[in-house]
Amino acid sequence: MNFTIVPLHPSHDKKVFSCGKKLLDNYLHIQAKQDVKKRLSACFVLIDQEKKVKGYYTLSNTGISRDLLPVGLCKKLPKSFAVLPAILLGRLAVDGSVLGQGFGELLLIDALKRSHKVSISVIGSLAVIVDPVDERAVDFYQKYGFFALPDSGKMFLAMKTISDLIDL
Ligand SMILES: CC(C)(COP(=O)(O)OP(=O)(O)OC[C@H]1O[C@@H](n2cnc3c(N)ncnc32)[C@H](O)[C@@H]1OP(=O)(O)O)[C@@H](O)C(=O)NCCC(=O)NCCS
Repeated sequence: MNFTIVPLHPSHDKKVFSCGKKLLDNYLHIQAKQDVKKRLSACFVLIDQEKKVKGYYTLSNTGISRDLLPVGLCKKLPKSFAVLPAILLGRLAVDGSVLGQGFGELLLIDALKRSHKVSISVIGSLAVIVDPVDERAVDFYQKYGFFALPDSGKMFLAMKTISDLIDL
């Protein structure tokens, strides 16, 4: 079976997508298309040959307050940036039918590569930020080097680390 990752399109069959988290299922079924239309986020989907959606992620611009960053990192950044530019990987999910087959990692790496490319050639971004839905999602992101930002529930991966991780 061939799979590709492409921007969400009306021809894609997303209605039976189910990852086990209502919030993430409903988002794809109901909200994603509207958010893309309003330019609030970009949505990329993993589709099979029949254009059935088997996974997805979203990217948006975000800002991260310098108070949340580790002191060591903060010291290296110009004080003029009270809020630092970053990319939000808002949602990432894989359909139950293909769970545990490497597609979560594939989507995550695709999102990190895409974010990195944008950050070096289009819009400066210090990091990719994620907003994990639960503790299991925290474990998943931790595996790839994301660390928790205090009092925000969010996690952080520096673009510099992403360069090393994806071996560009
Ligand atoms: C988290 C999720 C995306 C992982 O997708 P997946 O396709 O099953 O993951 P993969 O098969 O690519 O696994 C990649 C690696 O992560 C590990 N992993 C997968 N889920 C994990 C979890 N919840 N916690 C810790 N590690 C996890 C796998 O063991 C694998 O590691 P290995 O190569 O050392 O064995 C998927 O479980 C999912 O969609 N969950 C519901 C939605 C969700 O929680 N999204 C997270 C962000 S909001």
